[in-house]
Amino acid sequence: MPDQSSSAAPATVVLAGATGALGLLIAHHLRQRGATVRALIRPASIHKAEAESLRVQGVEVVAVDYNSLPDLTQACAEAACVVSALSGLRDTIVDTQTRLLDAAVAAGVPRFIPSDYSADFTKLPEGSNRNFDLRREFQQRLDQAPIQATSILNGMFMDLLKGQAPVILPGPHRVVYWGDADQPLDFTTMVDTANFTAAAALDPTTPRYLRVAGEVASIRELQAIASAALGHPFMLFRAGSLGTLATMIKVTRTLMPAPNEIFPPWQGMQYLHNMLSGVAKLDRLDNARYPDIRYTKVGEILG
Ligand SMILES: NC(=O)c1ccc[n+]([C@@H]2O[C@H](COP(=O)([O-])OP(=O)(O)OC[C@H]3O[C@@H](n4cnc5c(N)ncnc54)[C@H](OP(=O)(O)O)[C@@H]3O)[C@@H](O)[C@H]2O)c1
Repeated sequence: MPDQSSSAAPATVVLAGATGALGLLIAHHLRQRGATVRALIRPASIHKAEAESLRVQGVEVVAVDYNSLPDLTQACAEAACVVSALSGLRDTIVDTQTRLLDAAVAAGVPRFIPSDYSADFTKLPEGSNRNFDLRREFQQRLDQAPIQATSILNGMFMDLLKGQAPVILPGPHRVVYWGDADQPLDFTTMVDTANFTAAAALDPTTPRYLRVAGEVASIRELQAIASAALGHPFMLFRAGSLGTLATMIKVTRTLMPAPNEIFPPWQGMQYLHNMLSGVAKLDRLDNARYPDIRYTKVGEILG
């Protein structure tokens, strides 16, 4: 495990998107690990319950105009790392994150963690996932900036298996899939992703990419896990080939384009396609890098 205790003063980590679902968890784990946390929050959100919860945890809450490079630069001063947990479309993932990156560089911050937290989008072709295209676009800017960057790749949030991702269906006792039931898939809970991110933010020796998966399981293994965790047998339901899923994505996107939604149904289907095809599979896992983290398994969140 890299030495995180070499400096006497606790490291300051600047956190963007701290009022979000993942951001709040990252802030919590940073505090648990002894970091000083400065949360950058849009003025309109400064009175939200999430901002108050951050203050209660001892986080320094700073209202910042994300359109102002001088304000952002001042807010990044003295930080050891800037962590982004922003969520959005082009204006946020490309434009706002670029301003945050420019500010981090201007303030002399040595390290930057972008808001990736996903399957391995670096291996996907353009157009296969709208949200990942935006991350690759930002990645190009990040890789040209004079700052040490680390992306956290964690597969799908395991929590989504409890409902939002239509894979394990507790009603009809089916596990739905397209393509190959034996393709390994990566899952990590939001809590474990946040804990790993906090550890990485305080680790000056991180490489460009860190890959983590709380559990790697195929559809067939998910069937066994769901059957054991929920106490009744689940059947597999193959809805078609990956080509069928690709057609369904096109049809759904045409009928329900929802261009301003971050996670419209067709984008969730793109995510499933990326995973079920194996293209976005995480190659080599860095789970053991922070040995204090105990990873939650799929059976634990289903049961
Ligand atoms: N791997 C997976 O399965 C998976 C699933 C879901 C999410 N994710 C990823 O996890 C990351 C965090 O997502 P989340 O669900 O935690 O997001 P979230 O709950 O929607 O929170 C988004 C955060 O970003 C802030 N924000 C949004 N647009 C902004 C802007 N233009 N300027 C400044 N702040 C802005 C929000 O601030 P306000 O409070 O001011 O609105 C909020 O703090 C994203 O990269 C997302 O794609 C991964």
